[in-house]
Amino acid sequence: MCGIIGVTQTIDNSTGKIVFDALTRLEYRGYDSVGVAIINPTGELQIEKDKGPILEVGKKLEFEKLKGRTAIGHSRWATHGPPNKINAHPHISQNRRVAVVHNGIIENFLELKKDLISLGYAFKSDTDTEVIPQLIEYYLDQGKSIVEAIRTFTDTIKGTFAIVLVTVDEPEKIYAFRRDNPLVLGIGKNENYCASDIPAFLPYTNQVLILKDNELAILEPKNYKILNLTTGSEIKRTPKTITWTAEAAQKAGYPHFMLKEIHQQPQVLKTQLSTQMEVVEEIADVVLAADKVFSVAAGTAYYASLTLFHTIPSLTKKVVIPVISAEWDTVSSLVDDKSVVFAVSQSGETLDTIKGIKDAKSKGAKIISVVNVIDSSLTRYGDHVLYIHTGPEIGVAATKTYTGLALALWRIAYAVAEKREDIDSTYLSKFDKSLHALPEAIEHVIRKYEVKAKEISKWMTQKQSAFYLGRGVSFATACEGALKMKEIAYVHAEAYPAGESKHGPIALIEKDFPVIFTIPNDKNRKKMMGSVQEMKARGARTIGVIEEGDEEFQGVLDEYFEIPKGFSQFLSSILYQIPQQLLAYYTSTLKGFDPDKPRNLSKSVTVE
Ligand code: AGP
Repeated sequence: MCGIIGVTQTIDNSTGKIVFDALTRLEYRGYDSVGVAIINPTGELQIEKDKGPILEVGKKLEFEKLKGRTAIGHSRWATHGPPNKINAHPHISQNRRVAVVHNGIIENFLELKKDLISLGYAFKSDTDTEVIPQLIEYYLDQGKSIVEAIRTFTDTIKGTFAIVLVTVDEPEKIYAFRRDNPLVLGIGKNENYCASDIPAFLPYTNQVLILKDNELAILEPKNYKILNLTTGSEIKRTPKTITWTAEAAQKAGYPHFMLKEIHQQPQVLKTQLSTQMEVVEEIADVVLAADKVFSVAAGTAYYASLTLFHTIPSLTKKVVIPVISAEWDTVSSLVDDKSVVFAVSQSGETLDTIKGIKDAKSKGAKIISVVNVIDSSLTRYGDHVLYIHTGPEIGVAATKTYTGLALALWRIAYAVAEKREDIDSTYLSKFDKSLHALPEAIEHVIRKYEVKAKEISKWMTQKQSAFYLGRGVSFATACEGALKMKEIAYVHAEAYPAGESKHGPIALIEKDFPVIFTIPNDKNRKKMMGSVQEMKARGARTIGVIEEGDEEFQGVLDEYFEIPKGFSQFLSSILYQIPQQLLAYYTSTLKGFDPDKPRNLSKSVTVE
């Protein structure tokens, strides 16, 4: 999740400072490098950028002293190419006519880069972004206007983007356009701004316009206009006054980071789906070549890691052993140089997981790290590293990183299936369809059920305990649902495999005891009916996450959340979790707790 700022104003001695301050206010989006491009008083593009913390790089390169009226800045969260000075943004065209900053992913950049190289363009970085200024400059050289060049460019590229562009041809203008990545405009008196998020410019103006997909904003110090990128026609929209404080603005209007992060899931999962296809393929080859497959993870990451246990054995006939990091010693002697060990962790710094991985590595096992935080410790032990690209997660309880880790592992399972010659093509196409339909389905579930989750949570606030039941992969979903409820609402929530619940736990059931069931329409569905009936017969209040239109369960459950069809066989551990995240969030907040900072917990557990 990169951070973007652009400013154009009538004076030239404070522009560098505005950009620097804005970048520090976007720090929460995560970064590994930072840079600024300014059109200086002689009309040339000056670029200053480097790897490292925003404050350190900004001071070293004296961003505040940069002179000029129009500037763009960027804090990078690496996707293509390692964090270093060359890969840092802004990127500039060959003849220094155009500079851009970009958040998102240009999927067809390799083809475009090849074409441009054959036309004589030289590239410096490993990024997908560098094709943007080069291609725009190419169109300008062909005699197109800058608006025509941008419109042709957005027709040509595949992928997601928020792009902010400056050109020496029009030194007082900023061009900002987007598809699937955020951009907001700040409207001032003698200055205008654009940024990834409102906090960037909030100290200077509270007049805000949200740029929508497929729109282009053209900013000048005293004017601005918005065009539709497809038709070229002008769009009239008036700014809104924002009354948030800077901290509220970082939460984008949500009362807590956790709720913001729940709502971010469709977008961040979509981003992940368009990245690292080749890494996923390589990992699938490594899994197919392995004798034994292990995963090592803790807490939420462990529940996400169970995806491998529920997919790889049926696809490959290989045994997968999922291990809780702190229990690694139990399996250590089974690991050898024909083993593959997955390290699954959002932070990449969990000490128990690192210890297990170090031990596995010393035995010659191949390590596959699936992590969120770029360059974290577990990435250094990985023979292969798959990033989940969910951006920083500030709420201590994992939400978007749970779904991000689970998605990464479902993607690996899909790649393994694709490589097997004996897998039915209908199975593959259903799997592929579910993967690509997932972001929109999550959005649908949140939209449909946020109010209902809050309603049920009012009742949950009265409860001391709850059971979460599921079978097969849904047991993992239940575990994660119960962990969320424990962590932030301090309810004693216990997850059990539904079939096991009758061997003891059922003794606790009394009138109105909450039992939350995860019931996709998979091979376990029929047996789940027995468990619901058993609990109901003893007075439990039954709440189910079921497939849309499952009338049989609708008739039995006290409350239910319906999940769109098509996800029961694939990705259920992600989609069926969403109402459970909302349930935990609202139970916590209605009880008056701060879900972002649960007691006794920390975001990264670096002790054994
Ligand atoms: C999740 O809500 C918890 N905070 C915790 O279980 C966490 O998932 C666990 O500590 C593992 O962390 P990691 O993903 O950073 O390795």
